[in-house]
Amino acid sequence: MKLWKGRFKKEADPKTNDFNSSIAFDSRMYRQDIEGSIAHATMLGKQGIIDKEESMKICVELGKLREDIESGALAIDPDAEDIHTFVEQELTARIGNAGKRLHTGRSRNDQVALDIRLTLREACLGLKAQLRDLVRVLGEKALVYKAAVMPGYTHMQRAQPVTFGHHLLAYAEMLLRDIGRFDDALKRMDQCPLGSGALAGTTYPLDRELTASLLGFSGPTQNSLDGVSDRDFCAEIAFAVSMAMVHLSRLCEELVLWCSWEFRFIELDDAFCTGSSIMPQKKNPDLAELIRGKSGRVFGDLTALLTMMKGLPLAYNKDMQEDKEAVFDAVDTLKLCLTPLAPMLETMTVREDNMRRAAAKGFINATDCADYLVSQKGLPFRDAYKITGELVALCIDQGLTLEELPLEEYQKVCESFDQGVYQAISLERATGDRKVLGGPAPENVEAQAKRVLGLVKK
Ligand code: ARG
Repeated sequence: MKLWKGRFKKEADPKTNDFNSSIAFDSRMYRQDIEGSIAHATMLGKQGIIDKEESMKICVELGKLREDIESGALAIDPDAEDIHTFVEQELTARIGNAGKRLHTGRSRNDQVALDIRLTLREACLGLKAQLRDLVRVLGEKALVYKAAVMPGYTHMQRAQPVTFGHHLLAYAEMLLRDIGRFDDALKRMDQCPLGSGALAGTTYPLDRELTASLLGFSGPTQNSLDGVSDRDFCAEIAFAVSMAMVHLSRLCEELVLWCSWEFRFIELDDAFCTGSSIMPQKKNPDLAELIRGKSGRVFGDLTALLTMMKGLPLAYNKDMQEDKEAVFDAVDTLKLCLTPLAPMLETMTVREDNMRRAAAKGFINATDCADYLVSQKGLPFRDAYKITGELVALCIDQGLTLEELPLEEYQKVCESFDQGVYQAISLERATGDRKVLGGPAPENVEAQAKRVLGLVKK
């Protein structure tokens, strides 16, 4: 059954019907649709636009309808055009004429604009909680591994030593920004579109402030055309999700690398890995790979939303029905990916000895050798840099590390060197002295981890 009878002489073609219908992906908004309708009916009654008693009747029955859907007593009809149609028709079937009055001063256009906002508001709050949880795990691990020396990389080449806690906190910073992006999006979509009507508002004396406040918005939208045709919030949320997925994907890429036999920095718990059907030795980080892989579909969702909107004239156009599948897929995917990630990190085994060993090779302390010549021997940095480069070349020829190179060899290249160089290039020194704000020294990591944990405290 369609809501838009009267003008039509024929039923819709069955194939057209399926194509036009959105019930398959908007029925998940039944709670929000009912909540919006209760607020609208309450306001209609208060304003005397409909009878007070009828308003009450509508609200009570909508509450029952919600309970019946929740308990399974009422199945959502898959042949209904959309969730708005289903709820209104079911209400009318139950209470007759009063149900037919619910849609006074409202259109499905402002109704759907409201429902998506309510649905996404809830989804964002859930994602924020999951992100906070992940930040908490990172902060706790950072405290444990604040002094665990590991190689820091640039160009995937060993560059300078950092601490594992410091490395983990880099991801905590990214995720904190993600939380901020959701906050920003939530703030901007904190306006209620109800009362925008189909596009041009309405002649009924609606109290838009009232519906807005009943639904927890800070106020109503300010232009009816914009109210029904704004989907900025879908794109913004899809971007916030995409950025978070970039961060998760980078983290997962590192987890995959770190648990390879080439690195062996960590081992993931068996519960978060899978085996191979043919190779008995395999323990694969499938979940981390899947998270990395799923980032792609979310970027697709963002592109779909932006492309869907870019050519649309004002106001509502049916193209916009495409918004839901895209933005729901984005928030669902991030939720799905965040679910195993926190426990996966929480249960991983960290191989500090392997990290340290990797940091001790590859001349990761060469900058510290040059810095020693500058700060203790007064050489200009450029000269110190060149001298250290020659020493590295010498070490490579002789198959030695800077720690192993005898002092005479150092002195052949530059006579300023003394025994103190060994202390200066030790890994503890190289990380422990990097106390500059934002640096990897254990005391910094401890302070930063505590700061981060404070920010996500429940
Ligand atoms: N299912 C529609 C959507 O998601 C609801 C709005 C329908 N409005 C209309 N004028 N056809 O966009």
